[in-house]
Amino acid sequence: MTTQDAEKQISDLSAKLSYWNDEYYQNHNSVVSDFEFDKALETLQKLEKDFPNLKKDDSPTARVGGSISKDFASIPHKYPMLSLGNTYSQEELEAFDKRVKNVLGNNADVEYICELKFDGVSISITYENGKLVQAVTRGDSVQGDDVTANVKTIKTIPLSLKGTNFPAKFEVRGEIFMSHKTFERLNAEKAKNGEHLSANPRNLASGSIKQQDSREVAKRGLDCFLYFLLGEKLPYKTHEASVKALAEWGFNVSPTYKNCKNIAEVLEYVAKWDTDRKKLPMDTDGVVIKVNEFAKQEELGLTAKSPRWAIAYKYQAESTPTLLQSITYQVGRTGAITPVAELKPVLLSGTTVKRASLHNSDFIEKLDLRVGDTVYVEKGGEIIPKVTGVDLSKRPLISSPLVYPTHCPECNSKLVRNAGEANYYCLNENGCAPQIKGKMEHFVQRKAMDIDSLGEKIIEQLYNAKIATTFADFYDLTHAQLKSLDRSGDKLSTKILQGIEGSKTMDFDKVLYGLGIRFVGSGGAKKLADALLSIDKMMTCTVSDFTAVPEIGDKIAQSLVDYFKDPESIKTINRLKKAGVNLSQQLKNVVLASNKLSGKSFLVSGTFSKFSRDELHASIEANGGKLTSGISAKLDYLIAGDKMGPAKLEKATKLKITMISEDEYIKLIG
Ligand code: IVH
Repeated sequence: MTTQDAEKQISDLSAKLSYWNDEYYQNHNSVVSDFEFDKALETLQKLEKDFPNLKKDDSPTARVGGSISKDFASIPHKYPMLSLGNTYSQEELEAFDKRVKNVLGNNADVEYICELKFDGVSISITYENGKLVQAVTRGDSVQGDDVTANVKTIKTIPLSLKGTNFPAKFEVRGEIFMSHKTFERLNAEKAKNGEHLSANPRNLASGSIKQQDSREVAKRGLDCFLYFLLGEKLPYKTHEASVKALAEWGFNVSPTYKNCKNIAEVLEYVAKWDTDRKKLPMDTDGVVIKVNEFAKQEELGLTAKSPRWAIAYKYQAESTPTLLQSITYQVGRTGAITPVAELKPVLLSGTTVKRASLHNSDFIEKLDLRVGDTVYVEKGGEIIPKVTGVDLSKRPLISSPLVYPTHCPECNSKLVRNAGEANYYCLNENGCAPQIKGKMEHFVQRKAMDIDSLGEKIIEQLYNAKIATTFADFYDLTHAQLKSLDRSGDKLSTKILQGIEGSKTMDFDKVLYGLGIRFVGSGGAKKLADALLSIDKMMTCTVSDFTAVPEIGDKIAQSLVDYFKDPESIKTINRLKKAGVNLSQQLKNVVLASNKLSGKSFLVSGTFSKFSRDELHASIEANGGKLTSGISAKLDYLIAGDKMGPAKLEKATKLKITMISEDEYIKLIG
């Protein structure tokens, strides 16, 4: 095929696919079958692969992703991404209206636009000459991450705009969200694969947009509403006119907004949507009220954090009554017993709730909770919703107070409760299945040994088949053993073994955290590793040796001493040692502190011969420098080592960042 033919075909296919896509996602109209759509997309992908120079930035193939980014470049926002002040009552909204009128200087009514406050992740997208050129997350409001490739996979965000009357360059802001349906589907898949569940659609949307592989993002079914246009010398006089223009250019503007002539109409809108929002397919957590006229917005101005011309009204978390059918007891990794309410399934803020946490026995006693009661459930930030109260008027005539179990529901050991603690514990830590499996899961998690191919389900199978009954057993696993499990094929088994092998070089503090010593969190493990340097040393430490480490108190110190004198722990440590797991670290090679780098920002990338990356970081900080996580125009120095990523190099070159070697760095600090 000639280049000319390819160009024509690419252009025809792109136009067709964009049209089908817009019809489907913006007008809810299926013009072609999925099959025909996929075939056209595949042909276009192949052509773009054969003729890479002809691939356009707004190609419909961007919708399926393909690019992988290791680090997201940090981009300064042209206009800071402010947040909004919150209100929770009618009085506070009326006070906002008064403040607005006070500044504007007359008592006439002000026109407000009320919009729903969508609960997702905010995004700022730049368009140039009608094409999407960049999408940046909110970040710290001054600079955010460049997630352009990922945002391009969101089908309702136009890659190129309709019509011609849009400004040559502008930014549009909105909220990326996940519908309840997609959230439930993805969480069900996670449960099937034994992965950790997401607490709510917002968290899953936020995690999805930060995925490194844009193909994965394309599968997450994200959506986006746009609600804010920014640019120089825009021709619109009101916010309403600007969002109408956005809709005309093909942006997904939620039709739920309303022009309210005065605060009374605002209050009506707020009341109406408090009930109606529950029927929407996505989460909303309030209403945003904006002064409509731009001239008035300007007069009102901004505070450091938020505009004076807009405010958010937040709805109360939704609570719903349902029947408490039974109470079950979960045994955690540490042996703590958590009572769980098994509920008659009920719809709450868009998702079905079947279980809720009851915290501990004190909580049950305080509410005098009984099976058969009607209880109120509420969704907080956690995966499991909470029971918040009992409707005593609905209590059955015959009911009896709950008798808290005296023995572990899993291994039947006697439960104990220490003075001053709310939880009962099962102390049979080496013989109680959920505790053992919990410890194995804790060991592989990202903050510890980071063996992500070893999911909950595989651990369960390994444990049930008695192939691995402690995390030290992971290091003796064979390919044949793994393959014998019904879920894992050749590929997964190899991946698991690679993950286990890779974990041997994990930093010492991660291993220490992975051991699951009671009260030792990841921060504590880091402090301990930095101060004591090896497991051998720690095994000889007394309580006062441990408490001499910054931030380690008596409780943690005692738990460490208990752990290291337990023969089971010693056995585990010896097995890890034999397997070659890293159980020590070097003294940090921190160059004598100075303030030579004061006021300068640094980013470290690649590998070095004289320092480890951690040592370089420590040295920069010890000499008064500031560490940053991404490349922006504000960065002073990039310390470039071997194997620095090409994307970083390109970005740094483009922004003319000063790049120095480790030797030049050493000179810098003298
Ligand atoms: S306007 C300066 N409108 O809420 C005003 N924000 O607390 C910019 N949000 O960061 C925001 N729905 O992520 C606006 N209709 C809406 C919104 C909305 C959700 C989010 C957004 C913002 C946060 C402010």
